[in-house]
Amino acid sequence: MEFTHHDVLRAFRERYQGSPLVVRAPGRINLIGEHTDYNNGFVMPAAIDYGTFFALAPATDGVSEIYSLKYNEPYTVDLAGEISPVRNPTWVNYLLGVIHQLKQHATLKPFKCVFGGNIPIGSGLSSSASVECGFAFALNELNALNIDRQKLVLMAQWSEHNFVGVKCGIMDQFASMMSKKGNVILLDCRSLEYSYSPLQLSGYSLVLCDTKVKHALVDSDYNTRRNECERGVERLRKHDPNIRSLRDVNESMLRKHEQEFEGKEFNRCLYVVQEIERVQAANRDLQNNDLKAFGARMFETHEGLSELYQVSCKELDFLVKIARKHSGVIGARMMGGGFGGCTINIVRTEEVDAFIADLVKSYRADFNLDAGIYRVSLENGVSVIQEQELNMIL
Ligand code: GLA
Repeated sequence: MEFTHHDVLRAFRERYQGSPLVVRAPGRINLIGEHTDYNNGFVMPAAIDYGTFFALAPATDGVSEIYSLKYNEPYTVDLAGEISPVRNPTWVNYLLGVIHQLKQHATLKPFKCVFGGNIPIGSGLSSSASVECGFAFALNELNALNIDRQKLVLMAQWSEHNFVGVKCGIMDQFASMMSKKGNVILLDCRSLEYSYSPLQLSGYSLVLCDTKVKHALVDSDYNTRRNECERGVERLRKHDPNIRSLRDVNESMLRKHEQEFEGKEFNRCLYVVQEIERVQAANRDLQNNDLKAFGARMFETHEGLSELYQVSCKELDFLVKIARKHSGVIGARMMGGGFGGCTINIVRTEEVDAFIADLVKSYRADFNLDAGIYRVSLENGVSVIQEQELNMIL
């Protein structure tokens, strides 16, 4: 089910009455820099025009309640009690973690909240980060806490680590909170320094193609990759105690010690070290307006993710193979954590329709599945939806 801010506002008025604060929290894409964030490398994400919407107001009866439109289910929160993860319903843990963090700062007012959105779940567009960030931002506004956006980003990530159990990097939450319309962010995940670059696609478009599959064990495989990288760092640190992450490593150092690595650790580290370099090179391409060179690097990233890092799957590989063969596509790769979800493609605008038709047909023939197609634009990070816009709707 997809919900817009109209649906969320209407549901709020039906259930609780009154005029809530309405917040939009976007999902994200990532142009390049995959699985580099938790290795202290660079990423290049941007928020998109798909999001989660929150309607939130102080509770008049003193009882805090969160209502999920998707699950059609309310959940009562005792703000005075201890906040810890629950077994059921699991959707509430994304939000409880945020409450836990905000409670360290201040006493929160009891509230009523309705939320829902239109980010396709499980397609690697960070619906979970948008839920965490949107809720953190909305509670911060409602309670006038004045916590800055970067702190809210860290709280949202904390929630994902500790209440959801995925040891994600910082990229998704940062993109959902900090993005700027029409721009990509180049984020240094070690220092959290960042800069915006306008994405000038002149004559090209961004197209996401959704495999519509999500293979099991996604979260545990993600955590395993993270551990493999950490083990690689420990091995290298024996030679140089200054090495704290794969950001401090280059390819020749890595190759010099190849024999000391076990299992797949070397390949995992090699991919990450190459990808960290690649993002910086891709950023130079972008500054030089060389979109073709940028696109070529996206194909390289896919190869690394598929062969060395092994987070792709046959469906993603297939969609990238089809894209590579198409004359209108200058760059394509799997995007996000992997094992399913979307590919991101840079396609000549004139050839977008032909590309989509070709891809959908081939995918159906081979996998008997309808690929999802999303044409996205780059949007601002989390924001309040102003009253004028809401009045125009209702
Ligand atoms: C998921 C995580 C991010 C990042 C990507 C892979 O989206 O939440 O932190 O690690 O995977 O780049």
